[in-house]
Amino acid sequence: MKHFKHTLFLLVSLLAVLASCSKDPVVKTPSGEDNPPAEPQEAKVLVACFSFTGNTKAVASSLADLSGGTLYLIEPETPYGNENNTYYDESTRAYKEQYGPASTRPAIKKSLDNPDTYDVILLGFPIWYGKAPRVVFSFLDAYSFKGKTIVPFITSGSTGIPSAASELKAAYPDITWKNGDRLNGKTADQLKSWLEAAGVKAQIK
Ligand SMILES: Cc1cc2nc3c(=O)[nH]c(=O)nc-3n(C[C@H](O)[C@H](O)[C@H](O)COP(=O)(O)O)c2cc1C
Repeated sequence: MKHFKHTLFLLVSLLAVLASCSKDPVVKTPSGEDNPPAEPQEAKVLVACFSFTGNTKAVASSLADLSGGTLYLIEPETPYGNENNTYYDESTRAYKEQYGPASTRPAIKKSLDNPDTYDVILLGFPIWYGKAPRVVFSFLDAYSFKGKTIVPFITSGSTGIPSAASELKAAYPDITWKNGDRLNGKTADQLKSWLEAAGVKAQIK
């Protein structure tokens, strides 16, 4: 009888141990609370753009809607007058800035809140005489985006982005530049695909 009780006790103990092992392990914090694995964080997106006649702003606005990002307009302190819309007029401010020293930095309104909080910046601008307008450089100088990822995009009459993108990469080598694109006349689906390719999750399906 004594042996039987002892064997029964061992058997019950063994079953109890086996039952506890079959449960899913729960990770506890040092204070004893359950600690489920963290959800992956979505990148915080800034869509910053300079636009003179509205084309780039329209694209930037769609990208902000699609990505759930924040739209920020880069504004020169002194707006460009309509006379700047005349190409190759050497008397215009735009022409002088683009063909002047590469260090030209027109003053901009500095009104971007919490620039550090963004993980990815989509940077839009029109092509001016083959390159990015100098106000775009003023924007990059005004905030420290060192170590951040920037994806440039442009609108233009016909010029592509390579020359403008190379100049930006050379001027700001501490920024992680992703390949950009010319986004004139893209549909919402094409913009979504572009965002996904740039590593930005589209929020609107
Ligand atoms: C001063 C100036 C220079 C321009 N230079 C070029 C150029 O070199 N190549 C080009 O394809 N388009 C050029 N354009 C056309 C603009 O890039 C195009 O219209 C763009 O979509 C305008 O964008 P926005 O409306 O956002 O300002 C120029 C426009 C202006 C006003």
